[in-house]
Amino acid sequence: MITPVILCGGSGTRLWPLSRKSYPKQFSKLIGDQSLFQMSASRVKGDGYTAPLVLTNSDFRFIVAEQLTEIGIDPGAVLIEPEGRNTAPAILAAALYLLEKDKDAMILVLPSDHNVPDADHFSKTVQTGKDAALAGNLVAFGIGPTRPESGYGYLELESPSANGEAVKLRRFVEKPDVATAQKMLDAGNFLWNAGIFLFKAQTIVDAFKENKSDLMTPVKRAIDEAETDLGFLRLAPEPWSEAEDISIDYAVMEKAKNLSAVPFSGGWSDLGDWDSVWRETKGDDDGLVTSGAAIGIDCKNTLLRSEAKGTEIVGIGLENIVAIAMPDAVLVADKSRAQDVKLAVDALKQKK
Ligand code: GDD
Ligand code: MG
Repeated sequence: MITPVILCGGSGTRLWPLSRKSYPKQFSKLIGDQSLFQMSASRVKGDGYTAPLVLTNSDFRFIVAEQLTEIGIDPGAVLIEPEGRNTAPAILAAALYLLEKDKDAMILVLPSDHNVPDADHFSKTVQTGKDAALAGNLVAFGIGPTRPESGYGYLELESPSANGEAVKLRRFVEKPDVATAQKMLDAGNFLWNAGIFLFKAQTIVDAFKENKSDLMTPVKRAIDEAETDLGFLRLAPEPWSEAEDISIDYAVMEKAKNLSAVPFSGGWSDLGDWDSVWRETKGDDDGLVTSGAAIGIDCKNTLLRSEAKGTEIVGIGLENIVAIAMPDAVLVADKSRAQDVKLAVDALKQKK
């Protein structure tokens, strides 16, 4: 059995004003009838999976519980991080916690902010990676790259994958600059890292011991001294605050030698900014996407969305524009500047 470990502690600033510190994007119904978090949990429900382990922070614990209840999923455990220390400490905490219960535990790490429309194909791809994980590899899932994206990790394959089987990785490169990403694209033997990982709990713990051993003591103490709080397991704040703030990609994946990847071809998108939300939503023939009380006249490749009751958005003759209305904030931006929304959020924080 595989235990899904769902990470939902991120704050998703590039999707402001919909995504907020108090209610980040993974809990919003960005596309479709379920939140991204609910879609992630639904994807790993049923045959071959145990109940999920969810890692989040204190502010979101009730949202997590409520959203899981809404879709009929009983979590195996919800671990509360006293503060966000990024994905490396979170994944190590999950692995140590699960290892205590089952020395053969197998973990599937899942981000909570992706769109993966074909759940069946996803499950089959995960099964394909199982042998490599059982053999002691850290298995990543790779997406065919389509642009020199600098916000992703890149997986260099040792050889092409025959029939979608797992292949050894030569190296893992996290968030290269655009020029380096372009070279990788041209080389042809790189895939994007989907941010989804499969491994035995023991394998990842060993990888931390070898590549990032200074996380072991604080994270182990945070687990050993954790307290139960209304059904949640709250990691001990004092040791947790001593754990370095670092992602799994930099802490382990860039250094480990026992890496494999399984290509995933079933459609995947990191809904990280408004441009990707626009791309993932089917608009009209001109690429106009409207949501809520919004109308566009002669608009091309534009996203108009109102989540503000009683507030209509009307666009006329727009091209490549994103306009998002919330009850207390409105964003209007050139779609090519979608990445810069986080600058706006930083500027707003400074103003306060
Ligand atoms: N519990 C918890 N605690 N979750 C966290 C934390 C934390 O401190 N920080 C981030 N997360 C969650 C986010 O909510 C998201 O679901 C996931 O972990 C990944 O974090 P991101 O911050 O979104 O990472 P990224 O998008 O910059 O990069 C990762 O994903 C890319 C693909 O989307 C990397 O793995 C890249 O290599 C990868 O290409
Ligand atoms: Mg992300």
